[in-house]
Amino acid sequence: MSTKITLSDVSLGEEEKAAVARVIDSGWVSMGPETKEFESEFAALHGTRHAVAVTNGTAALHLAAMALDLGPGDEVIVPSLTFVASANGFAYTGATIRFADIVSDEDPTLDPASVSAAVTPRTKAIVPVHYAGWLADTAVLNALAAQAGAHVVEDACHAVGASGAHGSAGNLGAIGCFSFFANKNMTVGEGGMVTTNSDELEAALRLLRSHGMTSSSWDRDKGHAYEYDVVRRGYNYRIDEIRSAIGRVQLAKLPDANARRREVVGWYRERLRDVPVTVPFPDRMASETSAHVFTVTTRTPEERDRLNTKLRAADVQTSRHYPPSHLFSIYREAAAASGSLARTESYARRVITLPLHPKMTVDQVDRVCGLIRKELGPDRPSIRRPSRTDGSTTSTQEA
Ligand SMILES: Cc1ncc(COP(=O)(O)O)c(C=O)c1O
Repeated sequence: MSTKITLSDVSLGEEEKAAVARVIDSGWVSMGPETKEFESEFAALHGTRHAVAVTNGTAALHLAAMALDLGPGDEVIVPSLTFVASANGFAYTGATIRFADIVSDEDPTLDPASVSAAVTPRTKAIVPVHYAGWLADTAVLNALAAQAGAHVVEDACHAVGASGAHGSAGNLGAIGCFSFFANKNMTVGEGGMVTTNSDELEAALRLLRSHGMTSSSWDRDKGHAYEYDVVRRGYNYRIDEIRSAIGRVQLAKLPDANARRREVVGWYRERLRDVPVTVPFPDRMASETSAHVFTVTTRTPEERDRLNTKLRAADVQTSRHYPPSHLFSIYREAAAASGSLARTESYARRVITLPLHPKMTVDQVDRVCGLIRKELGPDRPSIRRPSRTDGSTTSTQEA
Protein backbone atom coordinates (compact mmCIF):
# COMPACT_ATOMS: atom_id res chain seq x y z
CA MET A 1 0.00 0.00 0.00
CA SER A 2 1.27 3.47 -0.85
CA THR A 3 2.39 5.57 2.08
CA LYS A 4 2.00 8.74 0.04
CA ILE A 5 0.11 11.51 1.80
CA THR A 6 -1.74 13.47 -0.85
CA LEU A 7 -2.53 17.16 -0.70
CA SER A 8 -6.24 16.60 -1.36
CA ASP A 9 -8.50 13.66 -2.11
CA VAL A 10 -11.64 13.45 -4.21
CA SER A 11 -14.57 11.98 -2.28
CA LEU A 12 -17.07 10.73 -4.85
CA GLY A 13 -18.86 7.41 -4.36
CA GLU A 14 -22.00 5.33 -4.79
CA GLU A 15 -24.43 8.16 -4.01
CA GLU A 16 -22.93 10.38 -6.70
CA LYS A 17 -23.03 7.46 -9.16
CA ALA A 18 -26.71 6.89 -8.36
CA ALA A 19 -27.44 10.60 -8.87
CA VAL A 20 -25.75 10.55 -12.28
CA ALA A 21 -27.72 7.41 -13.25
CA ARG A 22 -30.96 9.12 -12.18
CA VAL A 23 -30.26 12.05 -14.50
CA ILE A 24 -29.28 9.84 -17.43
CA ASP A 25 -32.45 7.78 -16.96
CA SER A 26 -34.55 10.96 -16.91
CA GLY A 27 -33.54 11.77 -20.48
CA TRP A 28 -32.79 15.44 -19.69
CA VAL A 29 -29.10 16.25 -19.21
CA SER A 30 -28.80 19.98 -19.98
CA MET A 31 -29.76 22.60 -17.38
CA GLY A 32 -33.18 21.91 -15.85
CA PRO A 33 -34.89 20.79 -12.62
CA GLU A 34 -31.82 19.24 -10.89
CA THR A 35 -30.01 22.55 -11.32
CA LYS A 36 -32.96 24.44 -9.88
CA GLU A 37 -32.91 22.20 -6.79
CA PHE A 38 -29.12 22.45 -6.50
CA GLU A 39 -29.37 26.23 -6.60
CA SER A 40 -32.05 26.45 -3.93
CA GLU A 41 -30.26 23.98 -1.64
CA PHE A 42 -26.99 25.90 -2.05
CA ALA A 43 -28.72 29.23 -1.34
CA ALA A 44 -30.39 27.77 1.75
CA LEU A 45 -27.08 26.50 3.18
CA HIS A 46 -25.42 29.89 2.71
CA GLY A 47 -28.45 31.96 3.69
CA THR A 48 -28.62 33.86 0.39
CA ARG A 49 -31.75 34.78 -1.54
CA HIS A 50 -30.36 33.48 -4.82
CA ALA A 51 -27.79 31.06 -6.20
CA VAL A 52 -26.98 30.65 -9.89
CA ALA A 53 -25.04 27.54 -10.94
CA VAL A 54 -22.32 27.91 -13.58
CA THR A 55 -19.56 26.01 -15.37
CA ASN A 56 -16.72 26.92 -12.98
CA GLY A 57 -15.48 29.45 -10.44
CA THR A 58 -13.75 31.60 -13.05
CA ALA A 59 -17.02 31.91 -14.98
CA ALA A 60 -18.70 32.84 -11.67
CA LEU A 61 -16.25 35.73 -11.23
CA HIS A 62 -16.62 36.85 -14.84
CA LEU A 63 -20.43 36.77 -14.55
CA ALA A 64 -20.22 38.82 -11.33
CA ALA A 65 -18.10 41.42 -13.14
CA MET A 66 -20.56 41.55 -16.05
CA ALA A 67 -23.62 41.72 -13.80
CA LEU A 68 -22.04 44.79 -12.19
CA ASP A 69 -21.53 46.26 -15.69
CA LEU A 70 -17.77 46.56 -15.30
CA GLY A 71 -15.75 47.56 -18.31
CA PRO A 72 -12.83 49.64 -19.58
CA GLY A 73 -12.08 52.59 -17.32
CA ASP A 74 -13.35 50.81 -14.19
CA GLU A 75 -10.93 49.59 -11.52
CA VAL A 76 -11.14 46.44 -9.42
CA ILE A 77 -9.06 45.84 -6.28
CA VAL A 78 -7.95 42.22 -5.91
CA PRO A 79 -5.44 40.52 -3.62
CA SER A 80 -2.32 39.26 -5.34
CA LEU A 81 -2.11 36.27 -2.97
CA THR A 82 -4.74 34.16 -4.73
CA PHE A 83 -5.30 31.98 -7.75
CA VAL A 84 -4.87 34.11 -10.88
CA ALA A 85 -8.56 33.60 -11.82
CA SER A 86 -9.54 36.11 -9.08
CA ALA A 87 -8.02 38.85 -11.24
CA ASN A 88 -8.75 37.27 -14.64
CA GLY A 89 -12.50 37.07 -14.05
CA PHE A 90 -12.60 40.87 -13.81
CA ALA A 91 -9.90 41.63 -16.38
CA TYR A 92 -11.98 39.84 -19.08
CA THR A 93 -14.36 42.83 -19.03
CA GLY A 94 -11.58 45.30 -19.84
CA ALA A 95 -11.58 46.64 -16.27
CA THR A 96 -8.21 47.57 -14.76
CA ILE A 97 -6.79 45.38 -11.99
CA ARG A 98 -5.23 47.00 -8.91
CA PHE A 99 -3.54 44.56 -6.57
CA ALA A 100 -3.61 45.01 -2.80
CA ASP A 101 -1.53 43.41 -0.05
CA ILE A 102 -2.37 40.92 2.70
CA VAL A 103 -2.51 41.85 6.38
CA SER A 104 0.23 39.57 7.79
CA ASP A 105 1.47 36.00 8.10
CA GLU A 106 -1.24 35.40 10.69
CA ASP A 107 -3.91 37.01 8.49
CA PRO A 108 -3.16 36.38 4.81
CA THR A 109 -6.44 37.97 3.62
CA LEU A 110 -6.94 41.31 1.89
CA ASP A 111 -5.61 44.20 4.00
CA PRO A 112 -8.26 46.97 4.32
CA ALA A 113 -5.51 49.61 4.72
CA SER A 114 -3.88 48.49 1.47
CA VAL A 115 -7.31 48.49 -0.22
CA SER A 116 -8.04 51.97 1.09
CA ALA A 117 -4.76 53.23 -0.40
CA ALA A 118 -5.70 51.69 -3.77
CA VAL A 119 -9.21 53.20 -3.99
CA THR A 120 -9.72 55.85 -6.69
CA PRO A 121 -12.88 57.46 -8.13
CA ARG A 122 -12.80 54.66 -10.73
CA THR A 123 -12.94 51.82 -8.20
CA LYS A 124 -16.06 49.73 -8.91
CA ALA A 125 -15.35 46.46 -7.09
CA ILE A 126 -13.30 45.11 -4.18
CA VAL A 127 -12.67 41.36 -4.24
CA PRO A 128 -11.73 39.72 -0.94
CA VAL A 129 -10.62 36.09 -1.17
CA HIS A 130 -11.48 33.91 1.81
CA TYR A 131 -7.99 32.49 1.82
CA ALA A 132 -7.77 28.81 2.81
CA GLY A 133 -11.38 29.05 4.01
CA TRP A 134 -10.88 31.91 6.52
CA LEU A 135 -13.32 34.76 5.96
CA ALA A 136 -11.75 38.10 5.03
CA ASP A 137 -12.77 41.25 6.92
CA THR A 138 -15.83 41.98 4.77
CA ALA A 139 -17.35 44.32 7.39
CA VAL A 140 -14.55 46.85 6.89
CA LEU A 141 -14.29 46.15 3.15
CA ASN A 142 -18.04 46.70 2.66
CA ALA A 143 -17.73 50.05 4.46
CA LEU A 144 -14.82 51.02 2.20
CA ALA A 145 -16.77 49.90 -0.88
CA ALA A 146 -19.84 51.89 0.17
CA GLN A 147 -17.71 55.03 0.63
CA ALA A 148 -16.18 54.52 -2.82
CA GLY A 149 -19.50 53.74 -4.54
CA ALA A 150 -18.18 50.24 -5.29
CA HIS A 151 -19.32 46.68 -4.58
CA VAL A 152 -17.71 43.82 -2.68
CA VAL A 153 -17.54 40.59 -4.70
CA GLU A 154 -16.43 37.69 -2.57
CA ASP A 155 -14.11 35.17 -4.13
CA ALA A 156 -15.46 32.39 -1.92
CA CYS A 157 -13.92 29.57 -3.95
CA HIS A 158 -12.15 28.27 -0.81
CA ALA A 159 -15.03 28.95 1.51
CA VAL A 160 -18.02 26.80 0.65
CA GLY A 161 -19.96 26.26 3.89
CA ALA A 162 -17.82 28.72 5.91
CA SER A 163 -19.44 31.14 8.32
CA GLY A 164 -18.27 33.69 10.86
CA ALA A 165 -19.47 36.54 13.04
CA HIS A 166 -21.00 38.45 10.09
CA GLY A 167 -22.68 35.50 8.36
CA SER A 168 -21.91 32.88 5.73
CA ALA A 169 -19.55 33.07 2.81
CA GLY A 170 -21.44 34.19 -0.28
CA ASN A 171 -23.63 36.40 1.88
CA LEU A 172 -21.03 39.02 2.82
CA GLY A 173 -20.97 41.26 -0.24
CA ALA A 174 -23.04 42.12 -3.32
CA ILE A 175 -22.11 38.85 -5.04
CA GLY A 176 -20.33 35.64 -3.94
CA CYS A 177 -18.43 33.29 -6.26
CA PHE A 178 -17.73 29.60 -5.58
CA SER A 179 -15.80 26.85 -7.35
CA PHE A 180 -16.50 23.11 -7.42
CA PHE A 181 -13.16 22.18 -9.01
CA ALA A 182 -11.79 18.73 -8.14
CA ASN A 183 -9.64 19.91 -5.20
CA LYS A 184 -12.38 22.02 -3.57
CA ASN A 185 -14.35 21.13 -0.42
CA MET A 186 -17.18 19.92 -2.65
CA THR A 187 -16.71 18.99 -6.28
CA VAL A 188 -18.63 18.19 -9.42
CA GLY A 189 -15.45 17.90 -11.53
CA GLU A 190 -15.76 21.43 -12.90
CA GLY A 191 -18.50 23.74 -11.69
CA GLY A 192 -19.28 26.90 -9.80
CA MET A 193 -22.00 28.98 -8.15
CA VAL A 194 -22.80 32.69 -7.90
CA THR A 195 -24.82 33.95 -4.92
CA THR A 196 -26.57 37.26 -4.33
CA ASN A 197 -29.35 38.78 -2.26
CA SER A 198 -30.29 41.23 -5.03
CA ASP A 199 -33.16 40.30 -7.35
CA GLU A 200 -31.77 42.66 -9.98
CA LEU A 201 -28.29 41.10 -9.94
CA GLU A 202 -29.82 37.62 -9.99
CA ALA A 203 -31.77 38.48 -13.15
CA ALA A 204 -28.59 39.82 -14.79
CA LEU A 205 -26.59 36.73 -13.76
CA ARG A 206 -29.20 34.33 -15.17
CA LEU A 207 -29.44 36.26 -18.43
CA LEU A 208 -25.67 36.50 -18.91
CA ARG A 209 -25.13 32.82 -18.01
CA SER A 210 -27.12 31.77 -21.06
CA HIS A 211 -26.27 33.95 -24.09
CA GLY A 212 -28.40 36.89 -22.87
CA MET A 213 -31.47 34.91 -23.99
CA THR A 214 -34.82 35.66 -22.39
CA SER A 215 -35.86 31.98 -22.04
CA SER A 216 -34.07 28.63 -21.59
CA SER A 217 -34.47 25.35 -23.51
CA TRP A 218 -36.09 23.84 -20.40
CA ASP A 219 -38.69 26.67 -20.37
CA ARG A 220 -39.39 26.12 -24.04
CA ASP A 221 -39.55 22.32 -23.71
CA LYS A 222 -42.08 22.66 -20.91
CA GLY A 223 -44.17 25.09 -22.93
CA HIS A 224 -43.42 28.01 -20.57
CA ALA A 225 -42.05 29.98 -23.51
CA TYR A 226 -41.99 29.61 -27.26
CA GLU A 227 -39.86 32.45 -28.54
CA TYR A 228 -36.89 34.27 -27.10
CA ASP A 229 -35.04 37.52 -27.53
CA VAL A 230 -31.33 38.18 -26.95
CA VAL A 231 -31.00 41.36 -24.91
CA ARG A 232 -27.33 41.30 -23.84
CA ARG A 233 -24.18 39.69 -25.21
CA GLY A 234 -24.07 36.77 -22.77
CA TYR A 235 -22.01 33.61 -22.57
CA ASN A 236 -22.67 29.91 -22.30
CA TYR A 237 -21.70 29.44 -18.65
CA ARG A 238 -24.49 26.95 -17.91
CA ILE A 239 -23.91 23.94 -15.71
CA ASP A 240 -25.63 20.65 -16.68
CA GLU A 241 -27.96 18.25 -14.88
CA ILE A 242 -25.25 15.60 -14.38
CA ARG A 243 -23.03 18.00 -12.46
CA SER A 244 -25.93 19.53 -10.57
CA ALA A 245 -27.03 16.07 -9.42
CA ILE A 246 -23.49 15.32 -8.18
CA GLY A 247 -23.42 18.77 -6.57
CA ARG A 248 -26.59 18.05 -4.57
CA VAL A 249 -25.04 14.90 -3.09
CA GLN A 250 -21.78 16.71 -2.36
CA LEU A 251 -23.67 19.59 -0.76
CA ALA A 252 -25.53 17.21 1.56
CA LYS A 253 -22.17 15.72 2.62
CA LEU A 254 -20.50 19.12 3.02
CA PRO A 255 -21.25 19.88 6.70
CA ASP A 256 -19.69 16.57 7.83
CA ALA A 257 -16.80 16.85 5.39
CA ASN A 258 -16.01 20.40 6.55
CA ALA A 259 -16.24 19.29 10.19
CA ARG A 260 -13.67 16.55 9.45
CA ARG A 261 -11.42 19.08 7.72
CA ARG A 262 -11.61 21.37 10.75
CA GLU A 263 -10.68 18.47 12.98
CA VAL A 264 -7.58 17.87 10.86
CA VAL A 265 -6.69 21.59 11.12
CA GLY A 266 -7.04 21.24 14.91
CA TRP A 267 -4.60 18.31 14.92
CA TYR A 268 -2.09 20.31 12.90
CA ARG A 269 -2.38 23.36 15.13
CA GLU A 270 -1.89 21.30 18.26
CA ARG A 271 1.17 19.48 16.92
CA LEU A 272 2.82 22.60 15.47
CA ARG A 273 2.35 24.73 18.55
CA ASP A 274 6.03 24.59 19.57
CA VAL A 275 7.48 24.42 16.05
CA PRO A 276 8.88 27.64 14.50
CA VAL A 277 6.24 28.07 11.82
CA THR A 278 3.33 30.53 11.70
CA VAL A 279 -0.15 29.13 11.22
CA PRO A 280 -2.87 31.44 9.86
CA PHE A 281 -5.34 32.95 12.33
CA PRO A 282 -3.88 31.36 15.46
CA ASP A 283 -6.47 33.22 17.57
CA ARG A 284 -9.53 32.28 15.51
CA MET A 285 -11.44 29.12 16.32
CA ALA A 286 -11.16 26.30 13.79
CA SER A 287 -14.98 26.43 13.54
CA GLU A 288 -14.60 29.71 11.61
CA THR A 289 -12.98 28.16 8.56
CA SER A 290 -14.12 25.80 5.84
CA ALA A 291 -10.57 24.40 6.17
CA HIS A 292 -10.00 24.23 2.44
CA VAL A 293 -6.20 24.13 2.63
CA PHE A 294 -3.71 24.22 5.49
CA THR A 295 -0.71 26.48 5.04
CA VAL A 296 2.18 27.48 7.29
CA THR A 297 4.92 30.05 6.79
CA THR A 298 8.50 29.42 7.79
CA ARG A 299 10.91 32.06 9.06
CA THR A 300 12.96 32.19 5.88
CA PRO A 301 12.52 31.14 2.23
CA GLU A 302 15.51 28.77 2.62
CA GLU A 303 13.76 27.00 5.49
CA ARG A 304 10.61 26.59 3.38
CA ASP A 305 12.55 25.19 0.43
CA ARG A 306 14.44 22.77 2.68
CA LEU A 307 11.21 21.64 4.31
CA ASN A 308 9.52 21.23 0.95
CA THR A 309 12.34 18.99 -0.32
CA LYS A 310 12.24 16.86 2.84
CA LEU A 311 8.47 16.41 2.78
CA ARG A 312 8.41 15.49 -0.88
CA ALA A 313 11.25 13.02 -0.40
CA ALA A 314 9.14 11.42 2.34
CA ASP A 315 6.15 11.07 -0.04
CA VAL A 316 4.22 13.96 1.44
CA GLN A 317 2.64 16.06 -1.30
CA THR A 318 2.93 19.83 -0.84
CA SER A 319 1.93 22.95 -2.69
CA ARG A 320 2.29 26.71 -2.45
CA HIS A 321 -0.75 28.97 -2.07
CA TYR A 322 0.12 31.07 -4.05
CA PRO A 323 2.70 32.43 -6.45
CA PRO A 324 1.61 36.12 -6.34
CA SER A 325 -0.53 37.13 -9.31
CA HIS A 326 1.24 40.48 -9.72
CA LEU A 327 4.51 38.69 -10.52
CA PHE A 328 3.04 36.91 -13.56
CA SER A 329 4.06 38.47 -16.88
CA ILE A 330 0.46 39.18 -17.85
CA TYR A 331 0.00 41.42 -14.78
CA ARG A 332 3.31 43.32 -14.97
CA GLU A 333 1.54 46.58 -15.85
CA ALA A 334 -1.05 46.15 -13.11
CA ALA A 335 1.77 45.42 -10.64
CA ALA A 336 3.54 48.65 -11.59
CA ALA A 337 0.34 50.62 -10.96
CA SER A 338 -0.33 48.91 -7.60
CA GLY A 339 1.06 49.92 -4.21
CA SER A 340 3.53 47.90 -2.13
CA LEU A 341 2.92 44.16 -2.16
CA ALA A 342 5.91 43.41 0.05
CA ARG A 343 3.99 41.34 2.58
CA THR A 344 2.48 39.19 -0.19
CA GLU A 345 5.90 38.66 -1.76
CA SER A 346 7.52 37.76 1.55
CA TYR A 347 4.65 35.40 2.45
CA ALA A 348 4.75 33.66 -0.93
CA ARG A 349 8.47 32.96 -0.53
CA ARG A 350 7.90 31.28 2.83
CA VAL A 351 4.52 29.55 2.51
CA ILE A 352 4.05 25.82 2.19
CA THR A 353 0.71 24.04 1.81
CA LEU A 354 0.40 20.76 3.69
CA PRO A 355 -1.98 17.85 2.98
CA LEU A 356 -5.57 18.39 4.12
CA HIS A 357 -8.69 16.42 3.26
CA PRO A 358 -11.50 14.70 5.15
CA LYS A 359 -9.94 11.23 4.86
CA MET A 360 -6.69 12.23 6.57
CA THR A 361 -5.88 10.27 9.70
CA VAL A 362 -4.28 11.49 12.89
CA ASP A 363 -1.33 9.18 12.12
CA GLN A 364 -0.77 10.97 8.83
CA VAL A 365 -0.86 14.37 10.54
CA ASP A 366 1.59 12.99 13.13
CA ARG A 367 3.89 11.87 10.32
CA VAL A 368 3.80 15.25 8.53
CA CYS A 369 4.32 17.20 11.76
CA GLY A 370 7.09 14.82 12.86
CA LEU A 371 8.94 15.56 9.62
CA ILE A 372 8.48 19.31 10.09
CA ARG A 373 9.71 19.13 13.68
CA LYS A 374 12.71 17.06 12.61
CA GLU A 375 13.63 19.61 9.95
CA LEU A 376 12.93 22.85 11.80
CA GLY A 377 13.22 21.74 15.40
CA PRO A 378 11.08 22.96 18.28
CA ASP A 379 10.70 26.70 18.66
CA ARG A 380 13.41 28.38 20.70
CA PRO A 381 12.25 31.11 23.05
CA SER A 382 15.00 33.47 21.83
CA ILE A 383 13.58 33.38 18.32
CA ARG A 384 10.55 35.55 17.83
CA ARG A 385 8.46 35.01 14.74
CA PRO A 386 7.82 37.83 12.30
CA SER A 387 4.51 39.44 13.13
CA ARG A 388 4.23 41.04 9.70
CA THR A 389 5.06 39.40 6.42
CA ASP A 390 7.43 42.24 5.52
CA GLY A 391 9.94 40.13 7.43
CA SER A 392 10.43 42.55 10.33
CA THR A 393 11.18 40.64 13.52
CA THR A 394 11.80 41.59 17.10
CA SER A 395 14.96 39.49 17.28
CA THR A 396 18.01 39.36 15.05
CA GLN A 397 18.92 35.78 15.90
CA GLU A 398 18.59 33.31 13.06
CA ALA A 399 18.03 29.61 13.47
C1 LIG B 1 -9.37 31.53 -4.97
C2 LIG B 1 -9.85 30.95 -6.27
N1 LIG B 1 -10.47 31.76 -7.14
C3 LIG B 1 -10.93 31.28 -8.31
C4 LIG B 1 -10.79 29.96 -8.66
C5 LIG B 1 -11.28 29.49 -9.99
O1 LIG B 1 -12.20 28.44 -9.92
P1 LIG B 1 -12.32 27.38 -11.12
O2 LIG B 1 -11.09 26.56 -11.14
O3 LIG B 1 -13.54 26.60 -10.75
O4 LIG B 1 -12.51 28.16 -12.38
C6 LIG B 1 -10.15 29.08 -7.76
C7 LIG B 1 -10.01 27.64 -8.02
O5 LIG B 1 -9.36 27.08 -8.76
C8 LIG B 1 -9.64 29.60 -6.55
O6 LIG B 1 -9.01 28.82 -5.68
